[in-house]
Amino acid sequence: MNLTTRRGFLAALAGAGAAGLSGFLWQHEPAFAAADSAGQFTNRLRLPGATGLYTAVTAREVKQITVSEVSFEVLPGIPSPFWAYVAEVGGKRLLNPTLLARPGDQIQLRMINRLKQPTIIHWHGLTNDQRNDGVGTYQVGPGAAFDYAFTVRDRAASYWYHPHPHDIAGEQAYKGLAGLLIVKDDDEDVLARALDLALGVTDIPLVIQDRSFNFEGKVEYKLSREQMFMGFLGEAILVNLTARPYFDAARRIYRFRILNGSNARGYRLAFAQGSRLLDYHLIGTDGGLLEQPLKVRESIIGAAQRLDVLLDLRSASGNEPVFLKSLAFDPMHNESVDEKTGKPPAGATQGAGADPHAAHAAPGAIADGTEMPLLRINIKSSPEYKRQVPSRLSRLPKLAVAAGEPRRLTLGHDGKGNWNINGWRFNMHETPVTVQRGARETWLLRNNRASMPHPIHIHGFQFRVIERRDSPAQVKALATRQNGLLPQDLGLLDTVLVWPGESVRIALDFSHPFTGDQTYMFHCHNLEHEDTGMMIGYKVKA
Ligand code: C2O
Ligand code: CU
Ligand code: CU
Repeated sequence: MNLTTRRGFLAALAGAGAAGLSGFLWQHEPAFAAADSAGQFTNRLRLPGATGLYTAVTAREVKQITVSEVSFEVLPGIPSPFWAYVAEVGGKRLLNPTLLARPGDQIQLRMINRLKQPTIIHWHGLTNDQRNDGVGTYQVGPGAAFDYAFTVRDRAASYWYHPHPHDIAGEQAYKGLAGLLIVKDDDEDVLARALDLALGVTDIPLVIQDRSFNFEGKVEYKLSREQMFMGFLGEAILVNLTARPYFDAARRIYRFRILNGSNARGYRLAFAQGSRLLDYHLIGTDGGLLEQPLKVRESIIGAAQRLDVLLDLRSASGNEPVFLKSLAFDPMHNESVDEKTGKPPAGATQGAGADPHAAHAAPGAIADGTEMPLLRINIKSSPEYKRQVPSRLSRLPKLAVAAGEPRRLTLGHDGKGNWNINGWRFNMHETPVTVQRGARETWLLRNNRASMPHPIHIHGFQFRVIERRDSPAQVKALATRQNGLLPQDLGLLDTVLVWPGESVRIALDFSHPFTGDQTYMFHCHNLEHEDTGMMIGYKVKA
């Protein structure tokens, strides 16, 4: 069956009949899911171009972002309702533009809400005062506007922006609202010159997201209570909103800025040529470049996290394509039994059948942890290229660890289908945690064994991971020799994945230039968890 043309797709649809498309792609085309499905990757990877989706534009030049309902061909040939951040710059209409900035830039823009529901833009990873952070407290209704004015104070890194209204952030991000904000500085310029990197050509943003489609092939977001409990899992993985994408490359070094923009899914990322995994270099994390590149063969990326990597295609043999893939892993969703009763909590009904993970997902959804190819990289040419990965990249701010007992935050659920943190659930009017502006603290994030992996995101401050304990074996296997830390834990983070049973100690420095009390959030970035209350307000007291 040929799904690559509109006619082929519609024929396929006719075959699907009233059962709908949900799961259709994967159920009826096993080759689609198989690791060697080379021929299936026939859609050119969408990249930031001169106009349209992801176009790179200087953030200072963007004066207005209209949050709009548009039509967009997510699957080729099938216009789908799609929500986008629309900016008009220099007479061009841009969708989810890639905003470029340098530290010190002043950004001033107006968001206009053209949705039929409230929204607000959050600048994920940036240090902002509470008003410019953009969370539910500041959401505006249909037709209304919100003015942002802030200075970029953070390190060069790949940040992103996405919706953050109360209770419906997951749906809004899912329907298309997400863009990158790339901050560059002198270290970045040195690296780009050393390796001859250009954004959109050899420095490639990769936004990985999963989606499901209705019987017409249109993007659909309908979740049962069980699915809200586990988080959304789709039937197809898109990279840069491209299904089954390929990318034509040369035999040289590429930089991939990878964002896991999925609502809830994790990936175990590797580059493979046939059955051989290629080494790659991890060079940066949520908060920018590491001090030195780290050679790795795989990395786990939780929702909202970013990994900046270098892949040297000179290490590939011959012209066989290289695949960015997600390797199999245990998603540890079945850990959601209650520690005391041994029973699954209400809302996490374990269905019949052999696969406890699949029980939570929509029919046809790819189970979390499934091995699958994500992007096919074709090696098309072998230009003269002699550059080598530099041994130094940048300097990280000094790690200052607070003395004394950590603040303990335990991730769990109430046995009734609600995730929580220290038993708290989100209440817009409460800030159960107060920290002193300028203080250093250690937080101990402990995930119950009866749980699932939670990507914990803290607004307002980037942090450092100082220790991982009791990690599951598959995580421990990737750890460096330092305190059980993963390679990406050696960088600045704004989101850290905490596995069932694991304890993760992080160091925070609550220094910032804002006077007056500031209220922020920390939450699970499994967006369905965030929307159902796994989020806490905290106050930074001036
Ligand atoms: Cu990326 Cu509170 O979110
Ligand atoms: Cu954030
Ligand atoms: Cu969670």
